[in-house]
Amino acid sequence: MEILKDVSILGGKFLYYFIESLVFHIIPRPKKRVAGEIVLITGAGSGLGRLLALKFVRLGAIVVLWDINQESVTETCKLAKEHSSARVHAYTCDCSKKHEIYKVAEQVKKEVGDVTILINNAGVVTGKQFLETSDDDVEKTFHINTFAHIWTYKAFLPAMIAANHGHLVCISSVAGLVGINGLGDYCASKFAAFGFAEAIYFELRKLKKDGIKTTIVCPYFFKSGMFNGCSTKYPSLLPLMEPQCVAHKIVNAILEEQVYLLIPKMTYIAVLLKHSISTKMGLALGDFLGVFNSLDNFRGRVETDKVQTVANTTNQ
Ligand SMILES: NC(=O)c1ccc[n+]([C@@H]2O[C@H](COP(=O)([O-])OP(=O)(O)OC[C@H]3O[C@@H](n4cnc5c(N)ncnc54)[C@H](O)[C@@H]3O)[C@@H](O)[C@H]2O)c1
Repeated sequence: MEILKDVSILGGKFLYYFIESLVFHIIPRPKKRVAGEIVLITGAGSGLGRLLALKFVRLGAIVVLWDINQESVTETCKLAKEHSSARVHAYTCDCSKKHEIYKVAEQVKKEVGDVTILINNAGVVTGKQFLETSDDDVEKTFHINTFAHIWTYKAFLPAMIAANHGHLVCISSVAGLVGINGLGDYCASKFAAFGFAEAIYFELRKLKKDGIKTTIVCPYFFKSGMFNGCSTKYPSLLPLMEPQCVAHKIVNAILEEQVYLLIPKMTYIAVLLKHSISTKMGLALGDFLGVFNSLDNFRGRVETDKVQTVANTTNQ
């Protein structure tokens, strides 16, 4: 009898949530206000982090910028301050160092207040074949792409729990859902970041801390310079995205309190297929899309790309 009751409840919930999702496909979900929220963005000195910072400033949030690169984080701060009512604070923080994260986090709490939206965005990639990747590089990748997420949660989550208010944003990657050859350490670190954010999301749900939201973002390659040289065989199917478009979709997902965001939409289909068609069919599809060759000409970020990013953001 118990099972019949449980199945009917599940059926009712499925129907309700299915109709709800259909409705929100037609009309946009309501968006939350972030004016006055304290938004901390790691890796805010360039690329996506900088674009997110500029967007949150325009939405009236108090923005805290962290980056290992003092010059670039100062530049983001300067760009943000061009917005008349900007409240923005820049800090140099090496997110590969736990003690530095804790130290700068304390400084932020004293000087700005409790962070209510935490965006773990800082990331690095080596882009080498696994056996050519040094142990130090593997460790560095994990320290920044994964451990920093854990330490920042430790620093900022207690205040969110006490207030039952906050938002945790994990910038993972499609490489956190699907293995990509040439990105062994990067994929492992991004899978781990995804798993960590999802586990804590479930933990908070169990604790009934429903005022703390989670958004886990998995973008395919975009043109920030980080994956310079990467290619896609059929850009109409799997495009290399513009960073501005990625930032727009991420902010939208945060405001709509979406838990998962995969971009572009094609990646939802790719992930679904990965788990539903045979491995050989999946490999044939990967060959067709050229995904196993996408890193062949990888060169990563070079100085000129950095200059380009600064120039691009100033126009936005
Ligand atoms: N670019 C892509 O194609 C792509 C695709 C999927 C996911 N991502 C992820 O998106 C996020 C942003 O990427 P991006 O393309 O804007 O990269 P980016 O290289 O433009 O920016 C990364 C920022 O992180 C900072 N950073 C690096 N090491 C740091 C450290 N130890 N401490 C603090 N800051 C540090 C850098 O100085 C830089 O400002 C990353 O997590 C990346 O893995 C990027």
